[in-house]
Amino acid sequence: MNQASQTRRDIGAGNQLDADAVRRAYRRWAGVYDLVFGGISALGRQRAVAEVNRLPGARVLEVGVGTGLALPHYGAEKRITGIDLSAEMLARATARVAAERLDNVEALLVLDAEDTGFAAGQFDIAVAMFVASVVPNPILLLAEMRRVVRPGGHILLVNHFAAENGPRWWVERALAPASRALGWHPDFAVEALFPGNERAAVTFVPIPPLGLFTLARLQN
Ligand SMILES: C[S@@+](CC[C@H](N)C(=O)[O-])C[C@H]1O[C@@H](n2cnc3c(N)ncnc32)[C@H](O)[C@@H]1O
Repeated sequence: MNQASQTRRDIGAGNQLDADAVRRAYRRWAGVYDLVFGGISALGRQRAVAEVNRLPGARVLEVGVGTGLALPHYGAEKRITGIDLSAEMLARATARVAAERLDNVEALLVLDAEDTGFAAGQFDIAVAMFVASVVPNPILLLAEMRRVVRPGGHILLVNHFAAENGPRWWVERALAPASRALGWHPDFAVEALFPGNERAAVTFVPIPPLGLFTLARLQN
């Protein structure tokens, strides 16, 4: 199997990945990630960071920071800690911080978002962009984000969520093979992150174009 099809297999199975599969997949993605995924996801990233910049509190945790595409967009007053499972993705983020002299990025650490080891309430805001459908266990991801954010702080996630009905349901099914190859997981359901009535406490904002990605925001 060649590298591209192995990557598609790792990322696009539609099932959650275990941590080793995530590391393997993003070891391969790291060199081309910005080119392949940077453009299509840019609006979602900008929208989420603009929201972070408007929120009170300086201590920001970016979960699954990847190659650091969002890092240049944070306000200078925000103090950013970025974490990621993939050392190769993080190496790109580290290079970006140095090249762009992003002094407000305090740390970039190889850590598992589901079990970070940070102190409870250590951050004012936690944000995860295009990560929830990639982590091995989205429920653990959200629980850990809640734990490390102070009471009253904010949690933001940008992701693709499967449409539940209407025209997008049909479009997504038609696009499924291509989207799976990019790791969008068109079948990633809102319930996988917010089961039962948990979604009642979440504000969902569709991001143009097409509302393919959604910003989900909740207060701790
Ligand atoms: C689709 S990329 C998104 C990267 C970045 N947030 C962006 O907007 O471009 C998903 C990232 O999540 C990371 N990731 C997946 N599971 C993780 C976990 N359990 N802990 C930390 N990072 C994880 C991957 O290594 C990858 O860098």
